[in-house]
Amino acid sequence: MKTHDYTKHATEYSELGIEGTFYLGFRDVPNLVKKYVKGTQALDYGCGPGRSTRFLRSLGFDVIGVDISSDMLTEVRKKDEQGTYQQIESGVLPFEDSSFDLIFSSFVFLEIAAMIEIEKILSEFKRVLKPSGHIIILTSSMEGYKGDWVSVSYDFPENKRQFESGETVKLLFRGTNVILYDYYWTDQDYRDAFTKIHLRLLELHNPIGYDEDKIQWREESQKSPYSIYVLTKM
Ligand SMILES: C[S@@+](CC[C@H](N)C(=O)[O-])C[C@H]1O[C@@H](n2cnc3c(N)ncnc32)[C@H](O)[C@@H]1O
Repeated sequence: MKTHDYTKHATEYSELGIEGTFYLGFRDVPNLVKKYVKGTQALDYGCGPGRSTRFLRSLGFDVIGVDISSDMLTEVRKKDEQGTYQQIESGVLPFEDSSFDLIFSSFVFLEIAAMIEIEKILSEFKRVLKPSGHIIILTSSMEGYKGDWVSVSYDFPENKRQFESGETVKLLFRGTNVILYDYYWTDQDYRDAFTKIHLRLLELHNPIGYDEDKIQWREESQKSPYSIYVLTKM
């Protein structure tokens, strides 16, 4: 089974903006950046059609987007001719050591089937990160796969079970035909990987929906669909 078939879904995925539940993923990132990040050189790892890359640019970063999917890069080049994007192999970054102040990666680690691959990617992040640089990883929280969210539905019979690490979870982006299967990783799986690669976890932020967001939240106002990890070198 192809879990993330972007040959089929890249165009539809590229229409998704930073709205609905996704807004919650990005809403607090500017504050985290202000709190931790110095400098303007950024890498958007797994940029897809570039909404995260353009978001980083709007925060003042000089950003390069990289992705393994040629279909996604075709979409991003249609949308953002002035942006810098590059196709890569998973966990292989064609950049010198200590190149970036920020490495950002949104909704990518949940597409990776094996922790050993996540560790390889983290280790490459560490190599290209400046000594004072920071990594921000936005991914689904464990609760994220059990909730009723504005933008994503997990309401499938095959999801009515206790998930184990590395298993797939079916999801639908509401209002589209995009069905994907994410890999389920626990908070402990991520923490173990950070420890193994000698990355220091500075903060785990789980954003909750507020009334002032002016979005008719479903369960977002009670629990967080997302985990945002802020890391640095040891
Ligand atoms: C759900 S999209 C997220 C795109 C963008 N970051 C965003 O927030 O909209 C995930 C992207 O990660 C890419 N991806 C998946 N596995 C990857 C890997 N091992 N290395 C780099 N990119 C990967 C996919 O091709 C896809 O474009």
